Amino acid sequence: MNKTEIIQKTERFIESEFRSEGSGHDWFHVDRVRKMALRIGEQEGCDLFIVEMAALLHDLDDWKLNGTESQNGSKTMKWLGIIELEAEIALHILKITEQVSFKGAGIETPVQSIEAAVVQDADRLDAIGAIGIARTFTYGGHKSRLIYDPSISPVMHDDFQEYKNNTAPTINHFYEKLLLLKDRMNTDTARAIAEQRHQFMNDYLSQFYEEWEAAR
Ligand code: NI
Repeated sequence: MNKTEIIQKTERFIESEFRSEGSGHDWFHVDRVRKMALRIGEQEGCDLFIVEMAALLHDLDDWKLNGTESQNGSKTMKWLGIIELEAEIALHILKITEQVSFKGAGIETPVQSIEAAVVQDADRLDAIGAIGIARTFTYGGHKSRLIYDPSISPVMHDDFQEYKNNTAPTINHFYEKLLLLKDRMNTDTARAIAEQRHQFMNDYLSQFYEEWEAAR
C-alpha cells in the first residue's frame, strides 16, 4: 500500500468507528483535527504523513472514550499492525496518540516530537472557540452535568484520577481546561489561532453571567 492508500483506509476505518459517537468526539472532530494538524504541520515543516495518521488515530484509545488507561494503545496498535506500517513509523504514530490528551490543570503533558506537538495543538484548538464551547456542553450533557451552579467553584486538578472523575458543572470546565489551553500551545502557529478563540470564549462567558443575573 502506498501512503495515499494507507491514509484512505485509515480514514474509512476511523469514520466507521466514530460515526455515532455522541460526546463531541465524533468523526467530524477527528476530521477537523486532521485538517488543522496539516495546516500547522505545513508551517512547522513536519512529516505530514505522520501528522495526518496520528491525527486520524488520536482519539481511538482516548481515556474519555474508553474509560480505562490500561487499554491505552491497544486499538491503535492493532490498526497499525493491520495496515503493515514500518515498525519505526508505527511506533512514532502510536507515541503521538499517547501524548495528545489533556489530563488536568496541574499535570504536564509533554510532547517528544514536532509531529506530536502539532497534533496536540490541533486537538486543543478544537476544544476552544465556538466549536469548543459546543463540544464542551455536548460532553457535559453526555455526562449528565449541570450547565452551571454558582455554589460550586472550579478546581485546578493536579491529580489525573480526580480530573477524570470530576462531576462539576460544565461552566467550571472552562476554568479547569479551556481557558488554560491558549498558554499550553506548542507552536507559534497554534498560539496565534488560539488567541482569537480564547477571546471569543471570554466574551461568551461575560454574556453568560449577565444573562444568568438577568442583567442583559
Ligand atoms: Ni480529540
